[in-house]
Amino acid sequence: MKYILFILIAITAISCGQSNNTDTADMYEASELSAMMREMVTWSKEAKATLAAGDTITHIPQSFYDLATQTATRGEHDETAFLGMVPAYTNALKGVERRDSQQYFYDASIQACRTCHAVYCGGPLDVINQL
Ligand code: HEC
Repeated sequence: MKYILFILIAITAISCGQSNNTDTADMYEASELSAMMREMVTWSKEAKATLAAGDTITHIPQSFYDLATQTATRGEHDETAFLGMVPAYTNALKGVERRDSQQYFYDASIQACRTCHAVYCGGPLDVINQL
């Protein structure tokens, strides 16, 4: 059972575009998409805290709207499936920016993370589920 779990984790890590070669692990450089994903995690955490405090989210990084054109480790950005799931996220961001119901659109943005990651890589789902 433990063995199976290990394999699953290994596969997940690889399919997230992380280097699977320990020799080059030190040289692993985040792709544009990975780097943006990390910024998205940081921003989402801040946004969640802002809403929890009853405040308004005023800062929406405009770079996130360029999600579709970021270079990915495995060229995901060229895939129809990937491109098809980007609008769910960017439309949610627009909702937050419009300040309609920021809680509603924030939740929609996190749902968009989950939907795409259910397809591309489950690794970050632990992080996403805390957002
Ligand atoms: C449209 C698809 C899509 C959406 C939406 C999406 N992701 Fe990702 N995410 C990816 C792909 C593909 C990768 C792998 C990137 C690479 O390796 O180049 C990734 C990688 C990541 C990583 C790993 C980054 C690293 O350190 O290498 C994290 C963490 C992450 N995403 C979190 C999130 C969060 C949080 C959200 C929502 C705010 C989100 N993702 C929305 C497709 C998506």
